[in-house]
Amino acid sequence: MSYKGYQFYDDDQNFQKYLERRNWAENANDTIEKPIFLELLSDVKGHSILDLGCGTAAFGLDLLDLGAYSYTGVEGSANMVEESKKIMNRTNGKVVHTSMEDWNSPEASYQLIISRLAIHYLPEIDEVFSKVHRSLAHGGSFIFSVEHPVMTSSFGIARPEGMKQDWVVDNYFHSGIREQEWLGGKAIKYHRTIEDYFHALRKAGFAIESLRESKPRAEQFHNAETYERRMRIPLFLFFKGTKPVSTNKRL
Ligand SMILES: C[S@@+](CC[C@H](N)C(=O)[O-])C[C@H]1O[C@@H](n2cnc3c(N)ncnc32)[C@H](O)[C@@H]1O
Repeated sequence: MSYKGYQFYDDDQNFQKYLERRNWAENANDTIEKPIFLELLSDVKGHSILDLGCGTAAFGLDLLDLGAYSYTGVEGSANMVEESKKIMNRTNGKVVHTSMEDWNSPEASYQLIISRLAIHYLPEIDEVFSKVHRSLAHGGSFIFSVEHPVMTSSFGIARPEGMKQDWVVDNYFHSGIREQEWLGGKAIKYHRTIEDYFHALRKAGFAIESLRESKPRAEQFHNAETYERRMRIPLFLFFKGTKPVSTNKRL
């Protein structure tokens, strides 16, 4: 089997560090990524939802609490799937242990498909985006976040230890593999430009409804310094695409 991005989380040390980081006060996921994701979701009541690269599926619990009809997570890492059971056991949601590449759903089986910070682990996105399109009901939405291309572009370029004081954007138009030193391990991720994501969505047949760049909101922060730091550079990129009600692919 060729290397898959989720294997990073099956290293126990990386996995523990990841869980610790997600519990940091004012971590970027909770202060910027999640609030924007929730804005893009709008009303999920009664929706059947699929979450690609769902991690611990903590978000599944939120979605079910918000009134979603069903929640299914797809997750490649055995450690994440094990952790998700602690959360999903209390719900009627479920997590399937498989990769996004191998996952398949019947046509038009979800009103909403989401993916939070997982798609940049995929070497190819066209086929996954086509499967997402096929699995969505007409009028359904695909919402995803990824690490922002100004960040992923320079993964792999050596930088000083410690908290960054400035950022490098380099090799921006060289889309492709990057090896990032992260949480003491090496994560394999894939850099794509904003245009790459935009064209992949259009090619799969989506009408693009929204694009966001993780601009922080002061009210999400107790610490003014962290807020000012988040104002310096975008960490995340978000898209919302809709499967048109008409079956015509060209929009
Ligand atoms: C940064 S974590 C985000 C987890 C979760 N979506 C969240 O926001 O809390 C990325 C997740 O994507 C999963 N992942 C990466 N590549 C995958 C693939 N090819 N198939 C399934 N899951 C994958 C990883 O195992 C990991 O759980």
